[in-house]
Amino acid sequence: MHEKVVVLDFGGQYAHLIANRVRRLGVYSEIRDAETPVKDLAQYKGIILSGGPQSVYDEDAPKCDSSIFDLGIPILGICYGHQLMQHVLGGTVKSGKTKEYGLSTLSLKGSAGLFSGLPKESRAWMSHGDTVSKVASGFEEMATTEDCKNSALADSHRHFYGVQFHPEVTHTDAGMQIFDNFLKICQVSRDWSIEQFIEEEIEEIKKKIGDKKVFLLVSGGVDSSVCFALLEKALGKNRVYGLLVDHGLMRLDEAEKVKESLANAGFTNLHLANKQKEFLGALAEVSDPEVKRRIIGDLFWETKENVAEELKLNPDEWIMGQGTIYPDTIETGGTKHASKIKTHHNRVDLVQKMIDAGKVIEPIAQLYKDEVRELGEKLDLPKELVWRHPFPGPGLGVRILCSTSGRTITYNEGVDYYQLPIKSVGVQGDFRTYRHPALLKGGFAEDYEKEATSLINSDPEINRAVMLVAGNFEGDVTSVTLNEAYVDVGRVQRLQVADDIVTQALEDLMLYQAVWQFPVVLAPIAFNGVGQESVILRPVESIDAMSASVGKLPQAFYDKVSKEILKDQSISAVLLDVTNKPPGTIEWE
Ligand code: XMP
Repeated sequence: MHEKVVVLDFGGQYAHLIANRVRRLGVYSEIRDAETPVKDLAQYKGIILSGGPQSVYDEDAPKCDSSIFDLGIPILGICYGHQLMQHVLGGTVKSGKTKEYGLSTLSLKGSAGLFSGLPKESRAWMSHGDTVSKVASGFEEMATTEDCKNSALADSHRHFYGVQFHPEVTHTDAGMQIFDNFLKICQVSRDWSIEQFIEEEIEEIKKKIGDKKVFLLVSGGVDSSVCFALLEKALGKNRVYGLLVDHGLMRLDEAEKVKESLANAGFTNLHLANKQKEFLGALAEVSDPEVKRRIIGDLFWETKENVAEELKLNPDEWIMGQGTIYPDTIETGGTKHASKIKTHHNRVDLVQKMIDAGKVIEPIAQLYKDEVRELGEKLDLPKELVWRHPFPGPGLGVRILCSTSGRTITYNEGVDYYQLPIKSVGVQGDFRTYRHPALLKGGFAEDYEKEATSLINSDPEINRAVMLVAGNFEGDVTSVTLNEAYVDVGRVQRLQVADDIVTQALEDLMLYQAVWQFPVVLAPIAFNGVGQESVILRPVESIDAMSASVGKLPQAFYDKVSKEILKDQSISAVLLDVTNKPPGTIEWE
């Protein structure tokens, strides 16, 4: 029996990530609902209160049992959890003057206990509107940021700590040190590892599947391949059968390449279904990103059921399998208090119903990408498979922006930035946003990060910033035309070519591992009346997809790819997305 720490989930996008961090430090951790009765919490060596999308004053704001503060167990509150702790213990929370999303500099006042070993100044990730304005008695102010005075508070006598920023996000420099310090304060033993996970999960799979077999959706990506390997290890080769659906939204020649790479990795028990016509037909007149996502997710599932029927797989003998990982669940709003950011293809209602009915197995649903990769290495999968860039289930379908109408906007010279007539999904303060990107003025520059962050924090209509890399038009931007456009074969092919140029250049310049993922997006906007659409490059750095910063690549890379992409005269411009997550998401839809 492990000694453990509990994370109380108030619905923040990062609640589960906290548990991942604690596990990374070797301590078994569990997530429980915010309202878990106090009698069930006494067994834990430490309690962490997660962030959440609400304000403590909202009528339906999630609360915890306030007697947890009488248990004598160390407690760490994060973001909403920090505010709730202050609210319950006699402090005051109010709506912040400036809403802070993204990067800020944390300046330390004290360096004991939770903050021991931290540098005086470090980067911290913020995503909040409310702040603590009056501190509860017994607490000491430990750190500030430019926009938030009470960024870190400690009552070291009672072992209560609160931080406004997110230590669980990998872009907070001192995040792991803070968790490590908290676990020391909790005096909890460190006996959890990925090897342990493999052992426990294999037992779990055997128990759940009994003498049945698994029909597993695969994509050639790391998650479904690791899932394939884990299921085969638990059940044996003959009891796992993979289905690769070619939905026509894959990369250039991807279906064949995936089949080959899976065969090289030893997965031969595989069926390839060509359903290009069905998927493209279903998306023909659709423009709304969430509707597109739902259509793709539903069709995946229907395809799987139809193929199972065609192959005469008896439903009493076969269980459906998916390589779902944790961000798929949390971003779909799949925990009690979490807000929906976007519907992942493996979390549409149809699939959710099957999961609730116990008809689906998802052995890695609790893991993040970094843990999945570690698992893949432990299961001896080839390195190039384990370290492939992530690619979303709905494929290029969520990278082809659509529009039901057209119009032209003329900009006057005095504008500070150009608000573009398209929208993309973002995540701000744990909520979904669907707003316009701003095209920064002044062309391609290195020092864009601060400018992008402050612009997005100050303009409520904007959630992303892009820069012009190069265009097929001459001179400054004077106008932009939005064209009516949907997902169709021509646009898929156009994007496949641009995407392939990017992948080839990353490989040729030995930069493939210099970024974590590199979506290439097609948007139906043209500048100064030249061409029909634009290509947006989205290189990102991340570890677990829950937060991301802009990937840094040399100028030579951008020169090479923009020149090649712009050979297609229908492309008006190549843009670079310079938005972190939050406030942007990695994909645009
Ligand atoms: P966002 O855009 O939410 O993406 O920042 C986070 C990570 O998830 C991937 N992604 C998906 N993966 N099915 C998937 O299997 C989906 O529906 C889906 N949507 C986004 C995205 O590529 C990124 O790595």
